Amino acid sequence: MAKNKDLGNAKVAKKDEFYTQLEDINAEIVHYEEQFRDKTVLMNCDDPTWSNFWRFFHMEFERLGLKKIIATHYEDGEVQTYKMEYCGGNDENFEDGIRTDLTQNGDFRSPECIELLKEADIVVTNPPFSLFREYIAQLMEYNKQFIIIGNVNALTYKEVFPLVKENKIWFGASIHSGDRKFYVPDNYPLKAAGCGVDPNGRKFVRVKGVRWFTNMDYKARHNNLETAYSYAKKEQLYPELYSKYYNYDAINVNRTNEIPMDYDGIMGVPITFFDFYNPDQFEIIGLTSLADTMDKPVMLGQDFVDMYKSQGGTGHFSTNMYGVWYIDSEGKAVKPYGRILIKRKDRQ
Ligand SMILES: C[S@@+](CC[C@H](N)C(=O)[O-])C[C@H]1O[C@@H](n2cnc3c(N)ncnc32)[C@H](O)[C@@H]1O
Repeated sequence: MAKNKDLGNAKVAKKDEFYTQLEDINAEIVHYEEQFRDKTVLMNCDDPTWSNFWRFFHMEFERLGLKKIIATHYEDGEVQTYKMEYCGGNDENFEDGIRTDLTQNGDFRSPECIELLKEADIVVTNPPFSLFREYIAQLMEYNKQFIIIGNVNALTYKEVFPLVKENKIWFGASIHSGDRKFYVPDNYPLKAAGCGVDPNGRKFVRVKGVRWFTNMDYKARHNNLETAYSYAKKEQLYPELYSKYYNYDAINVNRTNEIPMDYDGIMGVPITFFDFYNPDQFEIIGLTSLADTMDKPVMLGQDFVDMYKSQGGTGHFSTNMYGVWYIDSEGKAVKPYGRILIKRKDRQ
C-alpha cells in the first residue's frame, strides 16, 4: 500500500494534491487495453511512492504487454525528485524498478522531463488542474497519445475546444456523471464539502465534474445517441421545446436527452452532450461563447439587452457579449448557458 503517513507529511502544504483511486484507473484503461501492447507509458505527475497510476501499470505490466513504464514527479524547493523506470520482471512489487535522481525539479515542462515525453508513446496521469491548459498543449505539441483526468469545464477552454471541434481530443470512456473520490494528504481540512475517511483511515474528497480526456479511440464512443424525441412531433407534443435562436440559425435544446432524432439543421445543446458524442453521428459546429470557433461571432445585440431589461432581467449582459438567445413560449428573452452547436452528419 502507499505510504500513507509520508503522503500526509511531505505533501501537506501543496494544492493540487488529489490522488486518483486504483479502481477509477482500472475502469478507464480497460477500454483501451489492446492499444497498450509494446508501448512505453509515461506518468509525469506521479511520485511512484504513492501514485496509483504507477502501481496500476506496474501490476498490469505483463498482462498489457507493455514495453516500459516511467514515472516522474515534481517538487518545488529543495526536495530531490527522481524518475522510476520499469521494463518488467517483478510485477508483484511495485517498488521494483530503476530509480534515478532528476537534475531538475520534475516539472513536466523541464527539458529532462520533455526528453522522457519524447521517449513515451502514451501519457496517463491526473495532472495538476491549475496547469491543465499547458499540460494539454505540451501533449499536442509532442504528438502523444494520452489518457488524463481533468474537469468537465476544461472542454470549453479556448485552448481546448478547438481540439474538440477538430476531433483531436474527446472524453474518455468511464466517467460521465456524478463525482469521484480522490485521496488527499492527511492534513487536508476535513471540513471541506464531500470529505471523508475510508475504512483504512485515508482521507478522501469527492470531486464533481471529473472527466477523462483522451485522444485514443474506444468502442463505446461510436455508439449512437438515441432519444425518444422528434422534431416532427414538436407542435403536437411539446410546443414549448426547440425555440429558434433570435441571433443564429439553430434551435435550442435544453437537455441532451431531448435532442430530436430527426432534425437536420444546427442545434444548440448543453455541454453534457459531449458525454454522448459520437463523431460518426454528429458534427461539432462551434461553441457559442467562443467567437473563434464560430463561422462568425454571435453577439447578444441591442434587441436582447432591451427586451431582457424590459422584462425585469437582472443578469449582467451587454450587447457585445457572445452567446445565443431566444424568445421562449411565454415571450421571454432567454440566454441559455453556453451551448455547443451540433449538426447530424449521418442523415445527409
Ligand atoms: C491532481 S494531483 C495527481 C497526482 C497523481 N497523478 C495521482 O493521480 O494520484 C497532481 C500532481 O501534479 C503535481 N504537479 C504540480 N505541478 C507540477 C508540474 N509543474 N509538473 C509535474 N507535476 C506537477 C502535484 O504535485 C500533484 O502531485
